[in-house]
Amino acid sequence: MNRRPVANGIEWLGAVDWNRRLFDGLMPLPDGTSYNAWLIRGSDKVALLDTADPSTGHILLEQLADVPQVDYVISHHAEQDHSGMIPTVLAKYPDAKLVASPRCLTMLSDLMEILQDRLLPVKDNDTLDLGGRTLKFMHMPWVHWPETMVTWLEEDKILFTGDLFGSHLATSSLFADESVYEPAKRYYAEIMMPYRALIAKHLDKIAPLAPEMICTTHGPAYKNPGFILDAYKEWVSAEPKNKVLVPYVSMHGSTQILVDRLVAGLADRGIEVHPFDLTVTDLDKLSIQLVDAATVVFASPVFLNGPHPMLIPTAYIANALKPKLKYVGFMQSYSWGGKIMDSLTSLMPNLKVEVLTPVSVKGLPKADDLAAVDALVDEIAQRHESL
Ligand code: FEO
Repeated sequence: MNRRPVANGIEWLGAVDWNRRLFDGLMPLPDGTSYNAWLIRGSDKVALLDTADPSTGHILLEQLADVPQVDYVISHHAEQDHSGMIPTVLAKYPDAKLVASPRCLTMLSDLMEILQDRLLPVKDNDTLDLGGRTLKFMHMPWVHWPETMVTWLEEDKILFTGDLFGSHLATSSLFADESVYEPAKRYYAEIMMPYRALIAKHLDKIAPLAPEMICTTHGPAYKNPGFILDAYKEWVSAEPKNKVLVPYVSMHGSTQILVDRLVAGLADRGIEVHPFDLTVTDLDKLSIQLVDAATVVFASPVFLNGPHPMLIPTAYIANALKPKLKYVGFMQSYSWGGKIMDSLTSLMPNLKVEVLTPVSVKGLPKADDLAAVDALVDEIAQRHESL
């Protein structure tokens, strides 16, 4: 795509990566992604905010072909999907300075070859005058690396946020509509959720700015920033919803019977419930629901004395993403012995949760086993009363 105007003197650059399907070798990208950069012209100086992933770097260079002057390259975040083209851009514009937080400059210097006399560190709230346009740099660490900052373009009331508020969404639209909600929530779940306490503080710093536009480094920009600011406020808020997730595997049907009973019982109580057969579930579907679930019930046959191996990544990821969970339950079916609970709980030390009464069933579930599942439904319903 070509450079596109965002506002007078401000343009989008970068690449829409329609076909990328995996990020960090882990996260599914069902909707592709984009790597956004932004060109801001003042009456004296020109700034390029972020670059692009090197795999799409040729697109950025084509977009810059008729841009004779860049005085500042601003880096909000050192991760290579935005910084990877910085050495090439600095080579193209030999008088340009690389502007970033001191920590970001250190990380960039670790990650790539950058001449040290090109660096211009900025402190929190430092400003740069482009001539009639002022860039104010606000340090907002841990979104989602420690060096991150955002840039406030005061005269235009536009906030450039790096990854914060981003979405892995390839689209020809420059600006977001409501279809961005799920990709943005998935992005929050997988990238930002572990840092939600800090993000809540960043939201408090952003609110008084009342931005009229938010431009991120992934996905479309927000012309109506209230949409994404309100969504983030809800996602980082302390109280989870009246929602239960049931990640499970069933090898010969017994665990499936337990899951079906649990799901039906919770639904009858008006509790939102999402079963995830982990043999067919994409991680991102589960991650989105982790944003506001109150309870997760793991269900598995005993497999070599522990849980089925398909449950291990789910427990590990749930621990790493640090969702708002309050309760965790376990249901297992077994033939001669073993336990799923101990090894799964050992994978989730970050989760400050109450463990619900486990259900353990030998062979095909009988009437008293189903009654134990019903009792788990009662226990969850009672714990969820205040939600
Ligand atoms: Fe999109 Fe953390 O880089």
